[in-house]
Amino acid sequence: MYTYTRENADKFIHENKDQLLSTYRLNYHLMSEYGWMNDPNGFIQYRGEYHLFYQHYPYKPAWGPMHWGHAVSTDLINWEYLPVAMAPDMDYDAGGCFSGSAVVKDGKLFLLYTGHVVTGPDMDHDYIQTQNLAVSDDGITFDKWSGNPVIPTLQIPEGISQKDFRDPKVFERNGQYYMVLGSNDGEGNGLILLYCSIDLVDWAYVNVIAKSDGHMGDNWECPDIISLQDRDVLILSPQRVAAQGYDYHNLHSTMFMIGTLDTSQGLFHYEQYYPIDYGFDFYAPQTTIDDRGRVIMIGWMDMWESDMPTQQGHQWAGAMSLPREINLSGDRLVFRPVEELTAYRYNPFYIENVILEGERNMDVYGDSYEIQVLFDAQEAEEFGVKLRVGSEEETVITYSSAERLLSFNRDRAGIGPKGERRTVVDLVEGELALRIFVDRSSVEIFIQDGRKVMTGRIYPGQESLGIISFSKGRCMLKSFYKWDLVCDGQ
Ligand code: FRU
Repeated sequence: MYTYTRENADKFIHENKDQLLSTYRLNYHLMSEYGWMNDPNGFIQYRGEYHLFYQHYPYKPAWGPMHWGHAVSTDLINWEYLPVAMAPDMDYDAGGCFSGSAVVKDGKLFLLYTGHVVTGPDMDHDYIQTQNLAVSDDGITFDKWSGNPVIPTLQIPEGISQKDFRDPKVFERNGQYYMVLGSNDGEGNGLILLYCSIDLVDWAYVNVIAKSDGHMGDNWECPDIISLQDRDVLILSPQRVAAQGYDYHNLHSTMFMIGTLDTSQGLFHYEQYYPIDYGFDFYAPQTTIDDRGRVIMIGWMDMWESDMPTQQGHQWAGAMSLPREINLSGDRLVFRPVEELTAYRYNPFYIENVILEGERNMDVYGDSYEIQVLFDAQEAEEFGVKLRVGSEEETVITYSSAERLLSFNRDRAGIGPKGERRTVVDLVEGELALRIFVDRSSVEIFIQDGRKVMTGRIYPGQESLGIISFSKGRCMLKSFYKWDLVCDGQ
């Protein structure tokens, strides 16, 4: 057994980090320095640096009593690890310092997080959760507030789960602080609670701002509210949503709704909801607004209860997605990787206006790169690209013109989880634009300039480095760019 303190966590990481196996370590995505990582937490810009905290169990590559890992960056790509920010060392968070967010007030960095406490023999059912505060003057060392919890279970209204009460995201509006929290009604419907405060310490309950209609998951986690132009956007991670057509095929999902948050009544008005990501591995995203006014989102690039091969012998598990800038386009969101990434490109490769019929080996190779490809569909039935191709392996991205479907297939990707995800994509003037990021054990596909994104982990052999484009029937490869991407920081 370990005694969970920040010092012990840092010491353990320092003494063990050389034991990591690097085979599947990512080159330009953030992972924990050692052990386990899940949700991004406390994503914020503070004194000129981006801070990203994360759910972290340093002692094993498996979930355990949660600490908050901590990293900083000036460009969102090259991260530097800082000491562990919080350990589960108090009676009100002994089961874990669960997810939460950060806010800057009076020059200090405040963290709002969920204290998880196991109350009986069945860890999965016997627990309570409260909201807590920690403060830092320097953005490195955090002191937990002496008056914690700032929202005890007594402040959970009736008719709401008295257990699932977590993941505070704090934002300012009309000179006040608001906090959204994830929960459920105890009868199988996820929901979001709103609280307000003027000082981050005293919180008053406002209302349930949104709730599942019965088809949107039995518990909602990691809510977030952003404003884009004059619209509000609610972001959440619903658990156990049943599949709807091609959507929501993972155990848990992510969703957004564009609408209006009425803070006085405590209601979020919206009409439609959509998945944030159409791939396999994207969960619990969190946003921040930076000093350039960009709204940037990072998600956990994994999925609960999915096979993670690095848990066996590699001593680490879990990674963050690329930071994605979010913009509003009509009644939808578009997601694009932050522009800072382009600074890490090298080895450019470019061809254009190539007729494609059958397979074409692109004669470029790699395991960490960006591809930008523009297809003119012409008369092709289907076309696409194969990545990480080796003698027995390939990860296949296919567009079917007749079905208007883009598919991401990892059945032959390597070891690890398999399967296919599909999503409807319309060609734009007969063209399909894909921007694909491959990083050792990940693939992120930005479709039609960010209108949809598919994210997934793959675990190919180190020799599977090929890239092939293909077409059944004739299409035109209007342009194909590739750059290797590397970042020495991680
Ligand atoms: C989401 C989540 C959160 C919780 C955290 C615990 O992935 O389940 O609801 O705070 O992970 O690690």
